[in-house]
Amino acid sequence: MAHYLVTGGCGFVGSHLVEALVEKGDRVRVFDNCSTGKTENVAHLKNQIELIDGDLRELDAVQQAVANVDYVFHQGARPSVARSVADPILSNNVNINGTLNLLVAARDAGVKRVVYAASSSAYGNTPTLPRSETLSPQPASPYAITKYVGECYCRVFTQVFGLETVALRYFNIFGPRQNPTSQYSAVIPKFIHTYLHGNSPTIEGDGEQSRDFTYIANAVHANLLACHAEGIAGEMFNIGCGQQTSINTLAGLIGEMMETDAKPVYTASRPGDVRHSCADIGKAQQLLGYEPKVELKAGLRRTIDWFLQRSDA
Ligand SMILES: NC(=O)c1ccc[n+]([C@@H]2O[C@H](COP(=O)([O-])OP(=O)(O)OC[C@H]3O[C@@H](n4cnc5c(N)ncnc54)[C@H](O)[C@@H]3O)[C@@H](O)[C@H]2O)c1
Repeated sequence: MAHYLVTGGCGFVGSHLVEALVEKGDRVRVFDNCSTGKTENVAHLKNQIELIDGDLRELDAVQQAVANVDYVFHQGARPSVARSVADPILSNNVNINGTLNLLVAARDAGVKRVVYAASSSAYGNTPTLPRSETLSPQPASPYAITKYVGECYCRVFTQVFGLETVALRYFNIFGPRQNPTSQYSAVIPKFIHTYLHGNSPTIEGDGEQSRDFTYIANAVHANLLACHAEGIAGEMFNIGCGQQTSINTLAGLIGEMMETDAKPVYTASRPGDVRHSCADIGKAQQLLGYEPKVELKAGLRRTIDWFLQRSDA
């Protein structure tokens, strides 16, 4: 039985990964300071996992977290462009220093591989679509810089220290457990929550900006493949669906599925936001054997159903 550490395991992506590992019968340790995650996200697994309350910015704590671990899924970070615009120093400290602590500790503990949650925001406003891994990064926000630097550190730790790392550039992951009520919430949980309460969703900008929305099961699937695929140490992969959807289309789709005709309200666009984003997933298909398992509409259905069940309860 392999021993896994999931940093940020109380968060949205991390908790789904933890669940998948537990289901496979693996031994799982979670390390999180619950600044944006919640223990509630893994409460149903509490007898099957080891939960450490700790901060990535503290090397001692991270060293304890990696002890006797085979593989690390490094999901812990201060997410969101807007959070990083509000407090770039904090995002830098958690995302860059925290990742460096994790890599140093993993190297010293003889961890077999670190899989890092990178971000499609590294591409910034690069005009080419879909985006392939060969494009030059153009981070357009403090958050994007921090995630990109983490990715560079991963590659360098493979090259310089021989620690196996793989970076996955996530493209707008969505699904159950994503927080809908923070001012920094992602657009899908926000829209669902708003429609659920009979209100009109707010769209920042003209709504023609687009994203490659990726259901959480696809991200989990990609992480499990990236952890064990051979010959990919030091590599970086796009993880998305390769499908471009505008925010206006998304609002329409969710509204239709939730049977509401509430019309969106438009406000100013957000600083640091990129205009379009869509993944070329060819490299992940070829080298990881990755294929999106759940497409946008099916993922939205599952996510809406989860929110409906919670509101019933
Ligand atoms: N969700 C997406 O669409 C998306 C896209 C690109 C990249 N990512 C990356 O994926 C990862 C997971 O994101 P998410 O959407 O699940 O966000 P999330 O906020 O739900 O998860 C992040 C987790 O990290 C924890 N954390 C934050 N600061 C910490 C610290 N100092 N020490 C220990 N733990 C800390 C949080 O409490 C939280 O549980 C992040 O690294 C994020 O940058 C996510």
